[in-house]
Amino acid sequence: MRVRIDDVSFFDECDPSQTKTGHIIIRDERIEALLEGGSAEPAESFDEIIDGSSKLVLPGLINAHGHAAMTLFRGYADDLPLYTWLTEKIWPAEDMLTQDDVYIGTQLAMLEMIETGTTTFTDMYVHMDRVAEAVIESGMRAVIGRGLVGLGEDRDEKLAEAIALIKDFHGAGNGRITTTLAPHAPYTCPEDFLKQIIDQAASLDQSIQIHIAETTKEVADLQKSKGMTPIRFLDGMGLFDQRVTAAHCTFLTDDDIDLMAHKDVRVAHNPGSNLKLGSGVAPLAKMLQAGLKVGLGTDGAASNNKLDLFEEMRLVALLHKGVLQDPTAVPAHKAFLLATTGGADALFLNDVGTLTPGSLADLILVDISSPRYYPRHSLLSHAVYSSQAGDVTDVFVAGRHLYKNREFLTIDKERVVAEAERRSRKFYAARRG
Ligand code: NI
Repeated sequence: MRVRIDDVSFFDECDPSQTKTGHIIIRDERIEALLEGGSAEPAESFDEIIDGSSKLVLPGLINAHGHAAMTLFRGYADDLPLYTWLTEKIWPAEDMLTQDDVYIGTQLAMLEMIETGTTTFTDMYVHMDRVAEAVIESGMRAVIGRGLVGLGEDRDEKLAEAIALIKDFHGAGNGRITTTLAPHAPYTCPEDFLKQIIDQAASLDQSIQIHIAETTKEVADLQKSKGMTPIRFLDGMGLFDQRVTAAHCTFLTDDDIDLMAHKDVRVAHNPGSNLKLGSGVAPLAKMLQAGLKVGLGTDGAASNNKLDLFEEMRLVALLHKGVLQDPTAVPAHKAFLLATTGGADALFLNDVGTLTPGSLADLILVDISSPRYYPRHSLLSHAVYSSQAGDVTDVFVAGRHLYKNREFLTIDKERVVAEAERRSRKFYAARRG
């Protein structure tokens, strides 16, 4: 299968603030070529030719942290601090979630992510075999792990589920699914449980995703009980001898950052969620300065409340300039990289987040005919500062067209939104109570 997209705009590799116009060729699941100008090959050599004029081609965006089926709790509990939000609202509601709820909630999340230009996401949640099923059907790429809270008597059962998921789904969907181990946080996983997870990661060759240092409360509690920062504490347990994606890292000392750089800990930065929960602002500039590999995440739809990486890209670029009173902090190109190659790095994925020939054909087309894309001083600047996610018209993952002229080709949107609404009615009563 060969597909060619003609007359499409793309960033110049050497100077991304400059744009070129040319064509891109997709061969099966990979990018064969991205070249300036027209193609010399006859139309008959291709299965499909797409008109890319008035379109900008970008690598698909990569969401480095989230809980997909939490879409069902969008608007369910807002404007509360993390701990109250979790213990009084979210955890009791999650106890009511069925397998089918998670399947539909994940589909709802994927609809939103696809239409906002995301091609890869990660998910740490429950009923993950149903998540895997939904991902395989949708054609998206995902890194998935059974979320592990180790406070109850059922923790061994949960860990067994996490291991079963790895055995059943690692590499499934023609390699579109990667599995991971996903302990929730140091304050919800006792030390012996975390050690078990670290041992499993080593023996099963799996990465680990975990929320770390999300709030000042978490850091202060750990300082009180262990006399250490969460990063030092987890390092002492050997966590960072594994491949780790640390979500949030809102509160880090300079020593934490040095240690993380030394151990090559990857970070998922979630500016929208951290702001909405009133958690704080992560020291992104310092992390980047130390050479840490950082991706951009939305977190779940109950704490953002969108899964829109275009919005998160703009936010990350603006937020750190304001906080640091430094307009050179997180420039447009850096924000763009956080949402693309940074996400790939954060999730330990290869061959995605770039349009380099040979890489996987995970790419999106953005309609740049709107006035907000003129004049054309820099389409990179426009993509970060002026775009809207609704400008995304087409999404490809592994060369497969998932979203074409703003129509979903793999998920039935009407059925999913109706079903999500129907299934969420049981939460209405709980919300009022
Ligand atoms: Ni999270």
